[in-house]
Amino acid sequence: MTNITLIKGDGIGPEISEAVLKIIEASGVKINWDIQTAGADVIEKEGVPLPKRVVESVKKNKIALKSPVTTPIGKGFRSVNVQLRKELDLYANLRPCYNLPNIKTRYNNVDIVVVRENTEDLYAGIERHVDEDTAESIKIITRKASERIAKFAFDYALKNNRKQVHVVTKANICKLSDGLFLESARKISQNYNLPLKEILVDNCCMQLVQNPNQFDVLLLPNLYGDIVSDLCAGLVGGLGVAQGANIGENYAVFEPVHGSAPDIAGQDKANPTAMLMSAIEMLRYINENDAANRIKNALFDTLSAGIKTADIGGDKKCSEFTEEIIKKL
Ligand code: NAI
Repeated sequence: MTNITLIKGDGIGPEISEAVLKIIEASGVKINWDIQTAGADVIEKEGVPLPKRVVESVKKNKIALKSPVTTPIGKGFRSVNVQLRKELDLYANLRPCYNLPNIKTRYNNVDIVVVRENTEDLYAGIERHVDEDTAESIKIITRKASERIAKFAFDYALKNNRKQVHVVTKANICKLSDGLFLESARKISQNYNLPLKEILVDNCCMQLVQNPNQFDVLLLPNLYGDIVSDLCAGLVGGLGVAQGANIGENYAVFEPVHGSAPDIAGQDKANPTAMLMSAIEMLRYINENDAANRIKNALFDTLSAGIKTADIGGDKKCSEFTEEIIKKL
């Protein structure tokens, strides 16, 4: 039996975690879940939003499935997600984005993989008030992290028969920081027989909404990667269906792209698809390919039958949608 950490999160986190656990259990895969909590709810008891036990649990089990954790906006504690990625050195954020059956979108045949650097950039959290009316945030880009993520993107592209990699920066303005990211991508690309294309992030956003089919693998620093991931999610049906994984040398944490969706939390309205697709990739990671395929087929059959949650045009509750997937397993 495989030991896996489950970080239940908050907002819609507990609902979608419960749905995914039920589906995995019904598939017959035996997992010993080490259930951990993090975020605002644990501060009162344990003093911090990301207690050591959570990080230790992932270090012990090497793999985690995580649902979203709320981060206070404009004040309060530092993001649990950013801390976790940093503490476990989960340097690659991998977000495949493609059309799913029976979900109406503007474009067909979208098949884009976002590879986002996950440990630095403006997410280093180095901010201060210079004076009462001025604040500054420092954007850190290192050669080591930039070359490492570029290598990850090219290795992924090669292994998965992708045709090209676009490196996305704003190196015309951030000449030193984004310039270093771009230079690192150029250097690493020379070791591969795959084209590296260069595009500025503003133009990339425009091209993505006008002609997404021209893109294959996108390689981005942390902040642009975060923003462009949500844009790409929007191309294939929204955040309810966008999967993700954070991968490092030693650990992997699978989690959806979306956040804790406080606007629909506790109402049984959340779409568990993004979390389920992340879990399917987790099952592949532990070589449970048969169960991964069966769950994916059951999910796709459910969507094809028009059984959908409200965010993608259906009328099913999260729990009803989950039961339908289980029936089709
Ligand atoms: P969000 O992703 O939580 O929600 C944006 C919109 O998408 C909302 O209208 C929400 O209802 C909808 N949505 C998201 N997931 C959905 C799902 N599974 N099914 C149906 N609808 C869904 O983004 P928002 O509102 O900007 O952030 C809320 C909180 O989540 C913030 O505290 C933010 O910091 C945190 N967050 C956490 C992440 C993580 O834990 N990895 C990632 C992104 C945000």
